[in-house]
Amino acid sequence: MTRTLVIANQKGGVGKSTSVMNLGVALAERGSRVLLVDMDPQGGLTAAFGINSHDIRRSVYSLIMYSHVSLARVMRPVRANLALVPASVDLAASEIQLAGAADRAVRLRQSLQRSRIPFDFILIDTPPGLGILTANGLVAADEVLIPVQCQYLAMRGVRALMDTVVRVKNKLNTTLGLTGLFGTMYRPDSRHAQEVVDELRDVFGAKMLKTLIHYDDVVAEAPIVGLSVLEYIPRHPIAQGYRALAEEVAGGG
Ligand SMILES: Nc1ncnc2c1ncn2[C@@H]1O[C@H](COP(=O)(O)OP(=O)(O)OP(=O)(O)O)[C@@H](O)[C@H]1O
Ligand SMILES: [Mg+2]
Repeated sequence: MTRTLVIANQKGGVGKSTSVMNLGVALAERGSRVLLVDMDPQGGLTAAFGINSHDIRRSVYSLIMYSHVSLARVMRPVRANLALVPASVDLAASEIQLAGAADRAVRLRQSLQRSRIPFDFILIDTPPGLGILTANGLVAADEVLIPVQCQYLAMRGVRALMDTVVRVKNKLNTTLGLTGLFGTMYRPDSRHAQEVVDELRDVFGAKMLKTLIHYDDVVAEAPIVGLSVLEYIPRHPIAQGYRALAEEVAGGG
């Protein structure tokens, strides 16, 4: 059985793409067969793998725009056990091109369902905001995983996102579940970061996962050379953090 997770938070820059890459590598390292899908026209995830989103023909854009384009044609292996459906710049236009289509939010789900490729996990990276591309991710997924930046006002964005998740669940994807939330860019020396985490634990209980991804510049350095932190400095605390997250997500934590 494939578990399809959408990594979503409408707030920009909270660590969605970073987490998709590093969690994907961590799951693949454990032996799972993993597919990553970049639904962001900015192509941050695609770029992190050293792929130029200005220079690709087969991408998630053709997958969601044309029903005859199969997943097998647009995905590419990026590591052992790990494949990527890259984003191309034309994905930005799809929001407008799909605006009037009745099936605009179910395109990705239909494309993934047509495929018979046996993945254990599909991780979908979404853009900031709650537009059609994020909706496609929420509709295609079985579960939502929410990175939350351990900062003031983090809660506000999470509430809006939860409302959207409930709306999608009621209307378009009744089996959608919440895997959980996890803190990113956590600074152990900040009293305030701890307050944010405590509040998230109060509100979400066990849905607030144990793993906290700390703040560290290595996160920005690794993608410059096209690597996840797990590959760049395998024993780095950030790498260990994403391994712990993989363990929690996969059910071993
Ligand atoms: N744990 C971390 N420590 C330090 N920097 C981080 C951490 N996680 C992410 N960053 C940095 O923060 C920035 C935003 O991260 P990322 O691109 O993963 O966020 P995002 O939620 O995908 O953003 P967007 O909403 O724009 O797609 C990047 O420059 C990234 O290198
Ligand atoms: Mg991103």
